[in-house]
Amino acid sequence: MNIYKKAHYYDCINDFDFDVDFFIDFAQKQGGNVLELACGTGRLTIPLAKEGVKITGIDNAEEMIALAEEKATKLGLNVDFHLKDLLDFDLNEKFNFIFCVHNSFSHIDGFENVKQFFSNVSEHLEDDGTFILQVFNPDFFFFTRDPNDKFPLKTFKDPFSDKIISLSENSFYDEETQINYLKWFFEKEGEEESIENWSQRVYYPKELEYIVQFCGFEIVDKFGDFDFTPFENDSETQILVLKKKK
Ligand SMILES: C[S@@+](CC[C@H](N)C(=O)[O-])C[C@H]1O[C@@H](n2cnc3c(N)ncnc32)[C@H](O)[C@@H]1O
Repeated sequence: MNIYKKAHYYDCINDFDFDVDFFIDFAQKQGGNVLELACGTGRLTIPLAKEGVKITGIDNAEEMIALAEEKATKLGLNVDFHLKDLLDFDLNEKFNFIFCVHNSFSHIDGFENVKQFFSNVSEHLEDDGTFILQVFNPDFFFFTRDPNDKFPLKTFKDPFSDKIISLSENSFYDEETQINYLKWFFEKEGEEESIENWSQRVYYPKELEYIVQFCGFEIVDKFGDFDFTPFENDSETQILVLKKKK
């Protein structure tokens, strides 16, 4: 997906850390080694490593993994990053805690792919290990927007040139496939730089609960925010805390 080729922009766009303590807390409570699936530029992997967590990260975007490695090396951190696809990886290691967050699972679509994803998680998770899966809670406000309108998302400085980048988007939601098609418009100092097309498979709360259970996991907790608020009607996010079924 082309948006992930713009790894340096990714960090400017995703310059928040409100979810970091949540994962540090789980990693420390669970103990042992940790695996982040679709770790991107190490936005979460690196702060966990800084806290002394033994962590591995996988992602299938070369530019994202390269930037993650560069950042970890600069900080003198020992993180095991691998260029791997979520649907096809074998690390020959089991982990006590695995997580896949910031909507990465919405890049997985299709029944066989979903089953393969959970089978890979299961293969890499210790029997008493914890798996946390997070995706956004679908909000119809975004799906009913006019697909011809552009909505401003973010303004930031290009880390290479210091020029101002404005990012805006439009989207079209296909109700049949539950896929939200997005267009991201990057403008540098008012001039169009690029337009990137990408998409997200939308997972509804009950659908996701059925999927994880069908795929061999039990739900031990469900949060609607990274401050441990339980999932409820107006939660923006779905955070499922899962264990392998005995
Ligand atoms: C929204 S980013 C999340 C990155 C990171 N987890 C974070 O919280 O910032 C989604 C990530 O999923 C990765 N990704 C998408 N499909 C993937 C796949 N099939 N296998 C591995 N990584 C994938 C992308 O390259 C991207 O880095």
